[in-house]
Amino acid sequence: MSHPHDSILIVDFGSQVTQLIARRVREQGVYSEIVPYHLAEKAFAEMNPKGVILSGSPCSVYDEGAPTIPAVVLTAGVPVLGICYGEQAMVHQLGGVVEPGGGHGEFGRAEVEVIEDISLFEGVWRKGDRRPVWMSHGDRVTALPPGFKAAAVSEGAPFAAVADEARRFYAVQFHPEVMHTPDGAGLLRNFVLNIVGCSGDWSMKAFRREAVERIRAMVGEKRVLCGLSGGVDSAVTAVLIHEAVGANLTCVFVDHGLLRAGEADQVVTLFRDHFNIPLVHVNAEALFLKALSGVTDPERKRKTIGRLFIDVFDAEARKTGGADFLAQGTLYPDVIESVSFLGGPSVTIKSHHNVGGLPERMQMKLIEPLRELFKDEVRALGRELGLPADFVDRHPFPGPGLAVRCPGEITREKLEILRKADRIFLQEIRAAGLYNDIWQAFAVILPVRTVGVMGDGRSYDYACALRAVTSVDGMTADFYPFEMGFIGRVATRIINEVKGINRVTYDVTSKPPGTIEWE
Ligand code: XMP
Repeated sequence: MSHPHDSILIVDFGSQVTQLIARRVREQGVYSEIVPYHLAEKAFAEMNPKGVILSGSPCSVYDEGAPTIPAVVLTAGVPVLGICYGEQAMVHQLGGVVEPGGGHGEFGRAEVEVIEDISLFEGVWRKGDRRPVWMSHGDRVTALPPGFKAAAVSEGAPFAAVADEARRFYAVQFHPEVMHTPDGAGLLRNFVLNIVGCSGDWSMKAFRREAVERIRAMVGEKRVLCGLSGGVDSAVTAVLIHEAVGANLTCVFVDHGLLRAGEADQVVTLFRDHFNIPLVHVNAEALFLKALSGVTDPERKRKTIGRLFIDVFDAEARKTGGADFLAQGTLYPDVIESVSFLGGPSVTIKSHHNVGGLPERMQMKLIEPLRELFKDEVRALGRELGLPADFVDRHPFPGPGLAVRCPGEITREKLEILRKADRIFLQEIRAAGLYNDIWQAFAVILPVRTVGVMGDGRSYDYACALRAVTSVDGMTADFYPFEMGFIGRVATRIINEVKGINRVTYDVTSKPPGTIEWE
């Protein structure tokens, strides 16, 4: 389907950082989509992009079955930018020479020297500049195809940037999409706005308007159900759909009793009172705690919660008279078919179902209005729709909630203690102005009691762990380096104010080898 805005097609050859290309392009107000190289020809015909960017890859152009650029990309007359392997594939296919390995590889920080002023560099780099870039290549280009000229060199790459300005073909050996190439965003901006000539009119305002029209056309007079979790994605989904179909949307909030202090009330107030969205609030705490009673195995906890959630949601949905559509807050990273070279030429599709199995069980069609968006775009859309900033900027929170922060048996008493400690930790983080520097922060109540001395007496209470991490996507993470004084203040407050905890520890495990949650 042709996109209503100027768009850029990103051909994915399996680089770890292909998603960043899409993000950098979208930051310029230009819509872009990532497509695996073997589907790129079809996507090119359907999308009718104004320009193409070729990603990096773990492959060498000399590998058997190495990925190639579909011919149409190089013959259609649209501007093309090759990045890393994208450069090598372009050169190889257009008649230049790529030399394998040979010890010339560059990995990590490198420096390029600009030797020619080309339109890709305009306003960013000038002839004679020496600038840092991030490289990750073994092979390198050693001879250019006809029509190309070198524009920048580095120690390991005589053709660190090349151009055929007549055909509007550009290629760079370094990665402009990563933050470690400080001028990379400027180069990508030049490519999409100046060279390709995209108008940069893709904004959340436009997205909102078009999404509302699409949803209206799709839903008509039918009914939509949306499960609210208390998280940002489902909230934005609900508010957007409500704008499109009004009272034809019903939200169901299954409160499993495993939320943080005050969160359930906040969701109910926000949706029912502020947005005036019909909301069924199911207080299922007793049901969940009963089912979890005596369960200590983390996987069994997760499965129990998942199964029960679907049962309760299904039952409540039926009480409302059912619906034709089930709304879900699926995001773009969950739907990108990224090329995987680890398991051979197979394509891995990661699908994320917050309410897995429900659409089939209830015979509902899925409606996923955020499928095109990255998380930060969803936040921007949330702000555009009038959701409060402190709600939109919330840290991620896992579906099974506090259950995975309560190793061992879950009891109401332990959850109450955990909520109090967690609240203090987050209050202090906000007061110190650190909330937005941290990906996630929370307390964990440990299944051990330790001996302490409080006043003149002996105490024998739970220990708790504090966890705070930095991360970009939750896939890898590092512990947040608080000052010791901060940790000490939080610990003192927790021990003084939370009855039931007499010891506090700070978790300094990175991911991997740890995970962010404890279970
Ligand atoms: P881990 O613990 O695997 O977590 O390092 C990575 C990120 O995913 C979140 N998480 C979940 N989110 N349902 C969710 O919606 C889940 O079952 C779930 N488990 C973990 C976790 O909070 C972190 O952001």
